[in-house]
Amino acid sequence: MAFGSLREGAEGSNCTRICANCEQIPHFWYPSPSLMTQRTPIIGGNWKMNTGLESGMNLAGCVVDMVNTIESCEVVVYPPFPFLQAIESVIDSSRVSLGAQNIWHEESGAFTGEVSGLMLKEVGVTSVLIGHSERRHIFGESNDVISKKVAVGIQEGLQVVLCIGETLEEREAGDTLKVVLSQLEAGLSNVEASQMVKVVIAYEPVWAIGTGKTATPEDAQKVHSAIRSSIDEMYNSEIAQQTRIQYGGSVKPENATDLFACKDIDGALVGGASLSADSFTAIVMAARNS
Ligand code: PGA
Repeated sequence: MAFGSLREGAEGSNCTRICANCEQIPHFWYPSPSLMTQRTPIIGGNWKMNTGLESGMNLAGCVVDMVNTIESCEVVVYPPFPFLQAIESVIDSSRVSLGAQNIWHEESGAFTGEVSGLMLKEVGVTSVLIGHSERRHIFGESNDVISKKVAVGIQEGLQVVLCIGETLEEREAGDTLKVVLSQLEAGLSNVEASQMVKVVIAYEPVWAIGTGKTATPEDAQKVHSAIRSSIDEMYNSEIAQQTRIQYGGSVKPENATDLFACKDIDGALVGGASLSADSFTAIVMAARNS
């Protein structure tokens, strides 16, 4: 068994910043790489509407210090819009990429409150979340708008993370796959096979987001496997095998290893736990070792 511990990683990285959100957490053991896939795992930190300018810069600095030597895992942080440029100055030339939590599907014009792909690129954004459940359910984003945003994100050369997931009501009605696969199909309706290399799928059951409830690895794997089969039908098996599918919904250091051991789970989109550099790094390490 290979093992690592967060403390060793943190001490080795000389992270000297004082990060208010970092917490003391126990050592974690990681299994040796057993279920290696050819897909590089991707861990996203979705900060949502959290942090201030200074605390966000501190958090980003700690994340860079702690994950910069961790190879074989892609790491992206998604800070709030006003802090993008400042966070870019902290993560510049590190292994951590800059992402945005949203995009509008027009280039410019009279769209009060919206931000275009061109603007995001100008401040160093390389990845964008599209169709997050909070956008769908709080702000009423439809599959139609989401598919336009996906197309524009790709056109701008951004990595697009298409988020899909069922509500508790839909799950209890036995409609999980119907809902998730129809969101997938709609979201990818304007995406050609050659563009799929820019797409990451995030399966996030709505009932698991921010609630502390996580899908069991078995349940999550079933949905991930159905998503991959659907991509196979829509495109081909090579694209299905290449496409990364993240899981999201209360991912923490304590459940990450079991989730990442599932063959179709290629990382995580992390909300609450991404606000602590310690927890976020532990999740990155778990993905690296999966
Ligand atoms: P959570 O959020 O980890 O706090 O559940 C995940 C997400 O919304 O992307």
